[in-house]
Amino acid sequence: MAKRIQFSRHGGPEVLEYLDYQPAEPGPNEVRVRNRAIGLNFIDTYYRSGLYAPPALPSGLGTEGAGEVEAVGSEVTELAVGDRVAYATGPLGAYSDLHVLPASHLVKLPEGIDFEQAAAVMLKGLTVQYLLRQTYQVQPGQTILWHAAAGGVGLLACQWARALGVKLIGTVSSPQKAALAEANGAWATIDYSREDVPARVLELTNGEKCPVVYDSVGKDTWEISLDCVAPRGLLVSFGNASGPVTGVNLAVLAQKGSLYVTRPTLFGYANTRERLQAMADELFGLILSGQIKVEIGRRYSLAEAAKAQEALSSRQTTGSTILLP
Ligand SMILES: NC(=O)c1ccc[n+]([C@@H]2O[C@H](COP(=O)([O-])OP(=O)(O)OC[C@H]3O[C@@H](n4cnc5c(N)ncnc54)[C@H](OP(=O)(O)O)[C@@H]3O)[C@@H](O)[C@H]2O)c1
Repeated sequence: MAKRIQFSRHGGPEVLEYLDYQPAEPGPNEVRVRNRAIGLNFIDTYYRSGLYAPPALPSGLGTEGAGEVEAVGSEVTELAVGDRVAYATGPLGAYSDLHVLPASHLVKLPEGIDFEQAAAVMLKGLTVQYLLRQTYQVQPGQTILWHAAAGGVGLLACQWARALGVKLIGTVSSPQKAALAEANGAWATIDYSREDVPARVLELTNGEKCPVVYDSVGKDTWEISLDCVAPRGLLVSFGNASGPVTGVNLAVLAQKGSLYVTRPTLFGYANTRERLQAMADELFGLILSGQIKVEIGRRYSLAEAAKAQEALSSRQTTGSTILLP
């Protein structure tokens, strides 16, 4: 019997249950994947807590994993049983031995990328792809600000920025995280638990500030981020690790220098198979050429998902964390 993580009510990690599970047979355009590694992401905690609404309760959890195709629906032509695949979007339920999802959400893994690497990098790496290459196309020599630079998404952003010749200033909450972000390519770091971030950004940019600021911390850094964006620059608010940003007064964008703001999601960019494949090709290319190294900070068994989420929410993790079925 397969196992999965399920929750029947919202709350802390204690609401997660490890239960027997019998997945449905794949529909005509679906595929069943036997997960070999599963990605842990902050968004999983939003669905668990109720900040984001799952389609129904009880619900599975997780949207990132890698494994082998075990069964394909009658209309699926691009994938076959035995293919090595990975996914980062689609229905909740990746925290499971088996996951059924539309074939359009899957990419084949190239030789040279193993299941653990893929589960650690699909959602976070595709996110960095669209943020640095599509939401705003960063240019060599530019100086950008990226919050939570030692996290899962953060360490990939540090490396990707370095590969593009971009000077990434990363915020972090400890000297150890600063050292890790710098080892992964951050040009400079600011400890936002004790330093004045806008003042340091002014110093580091010779008074210019940044053409783009990437903020996934949310509530605690919103105001700080606005003060770090150069006139007519862009604030990309893409997460809520400290809580959601609410009640925004648009006039603040005028006061701070005719700023732009966007609130993007991965699925808003990887919303067709072609776009998903193009983004994944770029990500895998950087990994295979050695420009991006996948940093797996921690591994937990699938049964320990609650413990893994507790560590992520309490800022104990660095880099990517994976669950092993
Ligand atoms: N919109 C999208 O498409 C998209 C896609 C993927 C991820 N995201 C967002 O990107 C962010 C990073 O995701 P991730 O999975 O890689 O997580 P992560 O960065 O590994 O973990 C979150 C980090 O946020 C920082 N943080 C600041 N204030 C916090 C607080 N009050 N509580 C907890 N953490 C706090 C911590 O780093 P410090 O200790 O250094 O502060 C923590 O390690 C999340 O906000 C996630 O929702 C968005």
